[in-house]
Amino acid sequence: MKTENLTWHAAFVTREHRESILTQKSKLLWFTGLSGSGKSTVANSLDKRLSESGKVTYLLDGDNIRLGINSDLGFSNEDRTENIRRIGEIGKLFVDAGIITIACFISPLKADRESVRKNLGADFIEIFVDCPLEECEKRDPKNLYKKARLGEIKEFTGITSPYEKPENPEIVVNTKEQTIDQCVDKILKYLML
Ligand code: ADX
Repeated sequence: MKTENLTWHAAFVTREHRESILTQKSKLLWFTGLSGSGKSTVANSLDKRLSESGKVTYLLDGDNIRLGINSDLGFSNEDRTENIRRIGEIGKLFVDAGIITIACFISPLKADRESVRKNLGADFIEIFVDCPLEECEKRDPKNLYKKARLGEIKEFTGITSPYEKPENPEIVVNTKEQTIDQCVDKILKYLML
């Protein structure tokens, strides 16, 4: 074990202290869903609404994280697992900092999401952005489905790589049936914020 000679040091200034300064309870709001399902759109809108009501938030978004800290990772299941593990750890630090953290990743594998849930405990809120594959493919905002169908992108989620739907997410929003505002309202209602 690479961690066997390490000791966790508890800091003097605690999460509770930071939360009391910020007058909020921090959480990790984890958006999962297919590419093109509307995760980023709903997450950004939620971020804006929370921040307008005086909450301190931070958005961790798939493409941005993959352009930075996770730029060494691709889209094999193994790399996706490592992607989600690192984001879970980053999210945990942000939550400890007292910040309402919004993570927005396809996170297609149930076991990976469950590992983050186990790591974060009750601070982890899973939000399934439900949208049929056909609809995501029709929207195709980044032209990625088209490329995947042509074989120009390998291991594309929903086409040549699996997406495992959450079984018991805390919140489900359906971006085909509901407007973005309705989705955000549903999330805020659940959070009582
Ligand atoms: S995850 O599967 O590891 O959770 P993540 O959310 O970080 O994925 O990144 C997904 C984003 O990468 C998509 O929104 C899309 O823009 C881009 N992307 C590039 N190649 C792929 C691929 N093979 N499968 C899915 N998304 C891809």
